[in-house]
Amino acid sequence: MTRLAGKTALITGAARGIGLAFAKAYVAEGARVMIADIDIARAEAAAAEIGAQAVAMDVTDQASIDAAVATTVQAFGQIDILINNAALFTAAPIVEVTRADYERVFSINVAGTLFVMQAVAQHMIDHGIKGKIINMASQAGRRGEALVSVYCASKAAVISLTQSAGLNLIEHGINVNAIAPGVVDGEHWDGVDAFFAKYENKAPGQKKTEVGAAVPYGRMGTAEDLTGMAIFLASEEANYIVAQTYNVDGGNWMS
Ligand SMILES: NC(=O)c1ccc[n+]([C@@H]2O[C@H](COP(=O)([O-])OP(=O)(O)OC[C@H]3O[C@@H](n4cnc5c(N)ncnc54)[C@H](O)[C@@H]3O)[C@@H](O)[C@H]2O)c1
Repeated sequence: MTRLAGKTALITGAARGIGLAFAKAYVAEGARVMIADIDIARAEAAAAEIGAQAVAMDVTDQASIDAAVATTVQAFGQIDILINNAALFTAAPIVEVTRADYERVFSINVAGTLFVMQAVAQHMIDHGIKGKIINMASQAGRRGEALVSVYCASKAAVISLTQSAGLNLIEHGINVNAIAPGVVDGEHWDGVDAFFAKYENKAPGQKKTEVGAAVPYGRMGTAEDLTGMAIFLASEEANYIVAQTYNVDGGNWMS
């Protein structure tokens, strides 16, 4: 299986979770992968384990984005694939949302996605690379949730950015699309579960059990459930797919 043979990929937030599963799957498909994460120690350990490379990147800091993109280009010669995967989740009732939380979530999930995309798209345009950009949205971006206003709004913005960037960049042969997962087990959801334990007075783990049981497929997703779509969208088979967001969520959302 080498559908990405000879390709190079930069994946943000890939020190753990879904991004790491993508990195692993891409390596298995023959790609050279740069794991870019704010947690450089964990990124380096993960990269060593799976045969990838690691670079420090804080997606909220333009100098850090530029430096990590330059390091990746230096290491690989060029970037063919970008996955904008880094994100932060928060939850709170509307009257408890803080400006600091809002600004932090939007600076990572929205501005981070936009400006990493911009830096890599510029590189692709400059070198005539008909690349693939994949943004990580969420079912949370498809609708509001009573306790998840800021994160939902940030993921709706990712879907919108994917549409505009997809329409803008296809003239350069660059495909921009997104994946909208549902509920994916892992450290991220441990954090989500803790928020619901606090605000809905649930026992630890209870919310996870409930959301898993509510998935039409019958369980929470795993990071590996998403890798097929991430490989497909990065491959030549997706050349005619522009500005779309695909739900990979066991049937949670239809659109
Ligand atoms: N897990 C789910 O249920 C789920 C559902 C829908 C969408 N998603 C989306 O999928 C993506 C991956 O989710 P996950 O569950 O693996 O998340 P995760 O929280 O496990 O991993 C996020 C990674 O991003 C990194 N990161 C955080 N801030 C950063 C910054 N400023 N710069 C660079 N890196 C930073 C973290 O260090 C971490 O490695 C995210 O975009 C998330 O919103 C996840």
